[in-house]
Amino acid sequence: MSAEDQILAIGRQLAGNLPRSASPGERVDARLLQIVAGDPALRAALFRFTDVRPACTSVADLGQHLVTLLEDASPASRMGRAMLALARPRATRPLAALGAGGGVQRLAHRFIIGRSVDRALPALARSWDAGVAASVDLLGEASVSDEEAEAYVGRCAEALHALASGSASWPARPVLEADSLGPLPRANLSVKVTALTPEIRVEEPRRGIEDALERLRHLLRLGHRLGAHVHVDMETLDSRETVLGLVLEVLSEPEFRDGPSAGLVLQAYLRDSPAELDQILSWVDEHERRVPLTIRLVKGAYWDHEVIEARQHGWEPPVFTDRGECDRNFEGLTRTLVQAHPRVRLALGSHNLRSIAHGIACVRARGLQERDLELQVLRGLGDDLAHALARMGLRVRVYSPVGDLLEGMAYLVRRMLENTANDSFLAARSRGAPLEELLAAP
Ligand code: 2OP
Repeated sequence: MSAEDQILAIGRQLAGNLPRSASPGERVDARLLQIVAGDPALRAALFRFTDVRPACTSVADLGQHLVTLLEDASPASRMGRAMLALARPRATRPLAALGAGGGVQRLAHRFIIGRSVDRALPALARSWDAGVAASVDLLGEASVSDEEAEAYVGRCAEALHALASGSASWPARPVLEADSLGPLPRANLSVKVTALTPEIRVEEPRRGIEDALERLRHLLRLGHRLGAHVHVDMETLDSRETVLGLVLEVLSEPEFRDGPSAGLVLQAYLRDSPAELDQILSWVDEHERRVPLTIRLVKGAYWDHEVIEARQHGWEPPVFTDRGECDRNFEGLTRTLVQAHPRVRLALGSHNLRSIAHGIACVRARGLQERDLELQVLRGLGDDLAHALARMGLRVRVYSPVGDLLEGMAYLVRRMLENTANDSFLAARSRGAPLEELLAAP
């Protein structure tokens, strides 16, 4: 069988494990997403509204807040104007208030697993039972003060404790707990460097590194002691040098040679990502660590930000603006990473059937075991996919944000933008694009 035929066969099997069409609830969510993604003013007003909601004492009070927020925002879309028209008259105001609150809450619940790790544990346990692991992400990024950064570290430490003790009694799930290189922790936390330090300056990466070093060390020490995995997320390009520099520097320290299991992220939408991967692999070759570094390969979640930022400066965007080019780069990086086994562990973060099938085919072609590949998806976007992959006996992990709506604002906006982007894979699938088209080489 040719490589392309292999990819097609895997993709077909995967698609066969997915529900054929969206459920009614999902259709409601998709419509809600479209509404809030398409009108930034309305979105901001609704998020602020949900934030003041718990403090409101009556429906009348709630309605008054909604009117004020909507009037201030003056939303441009038809939906936004209709909502304002519904909220203005006293008679229909309660309806508008309850509807708006319920809608946003519904979306938040889709993407956020719980307000705290403790509250999320039952859902995490159910997932684990169904053969799906998680990486917990504490919402909140871009700390603006030392106090905020310290508070974030404190929350991360609590989360590590809660995950380690909460997951100890879960039943054995061999697929999720080891690959051919050794055991894999049940507790897995994703950490954002912009939350670890307020000192992110594109022209002065050292400053952020110095400031965040001790905080990251603290979390790594704790991760090691509790047997947890600590994964450092990648964010916008202006923080990349800080993030990469910080992770490689701290993991070079002799103290962390024996653990914990740790990882970083490579964003395939960046045109220079192949060079970045070379840099990471050279570091790996020069630093003997007992637990191999995990690299989570993703396309990247800050596309809109990077394009707007570049335009404002009159620069060429640092990201691929063509989906096909980005997907081809993702496949190229996948091949390099599969070749790099056992020097690194590979996790592919994608909702694209083609990218996933290509990754599995690469692993098989290289003669590795399937458990040497981890597949990652986002809660709220890749839930069906996660279960389909688990049914195929593959190792899958869901990125699961914990926190409240206010902390999750930036995160939710990213999910809404990517979910409604015209050229996204999920959009193509929900349009009913034929499988052959979805699985074709980019
Ligand atoms: C984000 O926060 C999933 O890390 C990614 O958008």
